[in-house]
Amino acid sequence: MTHADAQWWRTAVIYQIYPRSFADASGDGIGDLRGITAKLDDLAALGVDAIWLSPFYVSPQKDAGYDVADFTDVDPLFGTLADFDEMTARAHALGLRVIVDIVPNHSSDQHVWFQQALEAAPGSPERARYVFRDGKGVDGNEPPNNWNSVFGGPAWTRTTNPDGSAGPWYLHLFDTSQPDFNWENDEVLEEFDRVLRFWLDRGADGFRVDVAHGLVKQPGLPDFSPDDDANSMGGVEGPMAPYWAQEGVHAIWRRWRAVVDEYDGDRILAAEAWVVPLSRMAKWVRPDEMHQAFNFAYLETHWQAADLRAVIDESIAAFGAVGAPSTWVLSNHDVVRHASRLALTAENPQGHGIGPRFEGLPDPVVGLRRARAASALMLALPGSAYIYQGEELGLPESIDMPDEARQDPTWFRTEGERYGRDGCRVPLPWTADAPAYGFSPSGEAWLPQPEAWAELARENQQGVGSSTLTMYQEALRLRREQGLASAELTWIDGLPNGVLGFHVGDVEVYAVVGEGASLPLPVGQVLLASAPVTDTIPADTTVWLRS
Ligand code: NOJ
Repeated sequence: MTHADAQWWRTAVIYQIYPRSFADASGDGIGDLRGITAKLDDLAALGVDAIWLSPFYVSPQKDAGYDVADFTDVDPLFGTLADFDEMTARAHALGLRVIVDIVPNHSSDQHVWFQQALEAAPGSPERARYVFRDGKGVDGNEPPNNWNSVFGGPAWTRTTNPDGSAGPWYLHLFDTSQPDFNWENDEVLEEFDRVLRFWLDRGADGFRVDVAHGLVKQPGLPDFSPDDDANSMGGVEGPMAPYWAQEGVHAIWRRWRAVVDEYDGDRILAAEAWVVPLSRMAKWVRPDEMHQAFNFAYLETHWQAADLRAVIDESIAAFGAVGAPSTWVLSNHDVVRHASRLALTAENPQGHGIGPRFEGLPDPVVGLRRARAASALMLALPGSAYIYQGEELGLPESIDMPDEARQDPTWFRTEGERYGRDGCRVPLPWTADAPAYGFSPSGEAWLPQPEAWAELARENQQGVGSSTLTMYQEALRLRREQGLASAELTWIDGLPNGVLGFHVGDVEVYAVVGEGASLPLPVGQVLLASAPVTDTIPADTTVWLRS
């Protein structure tokens, strides 16, 4: 990479690829690395700067790959290391950086270390890599504390001793199949240095760090009862859970920063840290820690003008205070897609998901309209933005998925009470009239694709002026051309309720957010509009103007 690219991440648009659902070259119904390589030209044409891939490592796939059995190899489902190299080379040739996911809070229970731990005696070095504790109560029958798994049910599972008797318990903040590592153990620290170097040596430009607010637990592992309205990843005001955002995690990120800084090309660390408020999250991106943190406060903000203005100000101030860029994100593989979420009429905590029984289902027309307006607003904001695969097509959540098709551990661990995240993970539609909408040559798809997605297929939107894909392409082109991502934002005051307006560089952005609100179209050349405008900008519409 050239010198001119230094600090590329401050302004980058990073496209999240969920490999299972992006493009399937092998025909088994699950996306793979060769499928990604074949479609990279489309992403370069879209105008993004980097791709981030959710895990493609060896895994029993109990949590769609976030249960890693070997951190330095590719699961045969997704291909081989050679496929990774080929994909990376092609991405780099197209000017796209490649960010991989790293999952340090836990491994799969099939990881060789956990298997060794189960076979070893209590108190052994093999067990010390994970968090084993004796149970409470008669014969240790009860879990060591009252912590619940993010996916529902207890965060502890009891082991069986080699002689068949009941043994100690192990901690898993997520599924039973995802035992938590003990980050006070030097072997764990050293092993992850190795994993980082392995991917950096292969050309990765950085890491999205899974559960970056976890890893270190409060000494003594005290009981904790979360707020009822806590989202599943801990992002809520109020008492901090003894397993989230402990001070000790920061030493780990400083260590990791030193490792990535050994490499040229400005490689990055991006934190998945569900921490509130933003001023606290900003600790993750202090100058000697990570480069970026996902702005979940922004993602979780309702479609309300005052709330959006407040979170934009808070983000720029909080990240700016530590010299980091703000990031912006509206969708990912853990949340209801924003083309549905922004039109929900009832609360839906992160991770719960929506399905046919949910009371408060979105009007799809309103949802898409708001999603386009929200995306056009986001892509005008200074800093770095994340796009989740399919949002550039305006894909909604898949709501009517049959129960039998669901695969998220959340669905199973709550016995169907929470739908979980399958609805945002459905394989992409590429061509309307091909099997599996062009996702897979065999017509297989690991989750069913809604029929209504045919008309949203990428091919149908390509080159169509009014399409969501064209709007994204134009927004990214203008964002780059106008230098919006490195410009300063200043608000335009005195606008009607429900209307946001700001200057960013030479561009004026107006977002009419409130129901019933509208704004006479200000003077200037319309550069981008998320919906048709006449002499008025109607509700749920964002417009970029050159003044
Ligand atoms: C966050 C990931 O984004 C999510 O998909 C996963 O289930 C958990 N971390 C556990 O790794």
